Amino acid sequence: MQLIHSVSELRARLANEKAVAFVPTMGNLHEGHIELVRIAREQGTCTKGTQSANQQTGGGDVCVVVSIFVNPLQFGPNEDFDKYPRTLEADCDKLQGLADVVFAPSVADMYPEQQTIYVEPPPIANELCGEFRPGHFRGMATVVLKLFNLVQPQVAIFGKKDYQQLAIIRQMVTQFNLPIAIVGAETSRAADGLALSSRNQYLSPEERTEAAFLSRTLCGMGDALKRGGADILALERGAGAALAKRGWQVEYISVRRQSDLGVPPQGERKLVIVAAARLGKTRLIDNIEVCL
Ligand code: PAF
Repeated sequence: MQLIHSVSELRARLANEKAVAFVPTMGNLHEGHIELVRIAREQGTCTKGTQSANQQTGGGDVCVVVSIFVNPLQFGPNEDFDKYPRTLEADCDKLQGLADVVFAPSVADMYPEQQTIYVEPPPIANELCGEFRPGHFRGMATVVLKLFNLVQPQVAIFGKKDYQQLAIIRQMVTQFNLPIAIVGAETSRAADGLALSSRNQYLSPEERTEAAFLSRTLCGMGDALKRGGADILALERGAGAALAKRGWQVEYISVRRQSDLGVPPQGERKLVIVAAARLGKTRLIDNIEVCL
């Protein structure tokens, strides 16, 4: 495994690679990230029709690239950019034998001059997380496009935990005609159901125990939807109230359409329940897909 910091070195290293699978991260890797890297290596099922990512990249000798970059552009002024855990050495240890290249650029490398050109994401970027993190998806999509330009992968793997991020990236790739297959990987969870996240380490021991209630709530909502006849609005309000009663500050809990996170029309069968809520100072997000 090779650790590369500069754009020029990365370009030279990848110049002759015919098949590149890419996992963009902000580091502080946990088992969820490692699973994405394993999927990159295996060239799992591609989201585009029946064509597998394996076919896209041409087979076994894929070069797996993991980027580690805490992107200032996607953090708001009152967010945790400064305190976001930077653990490059430990991350590289975890990636030994799994990744071929770790790309960990400096801010100056990624932003050689002030970024004045941005990816303007679709209106869905202003809802859900976007309502509470203005500009986040613009900064995220901009850095992902830059990383795609640098790495030029045939396939890129993103976790479904960041469902809205994944939906926006899919639209960006389609609308900018990028020749990249986007693979959405299932959320990795702790034994009690809590979605793995770098931010879980901010939780106190008591908060960590309580945190599993978020995924339990979503599962309960999913069961109610599957039983049929549920009033979606009442379900969303009930779940929000249950969380609030236990001390959560709920940002949103919403039943949406899987394809584009729009409000589901009557009869929509592919749903996703998305949520964001704060426990103490920690903001947690989660979602579950529900197919009726
Ligand atoms: O999901 C993340 O870790 C980040 O949003 C990403 C995709 C690496 C872009 O900075």
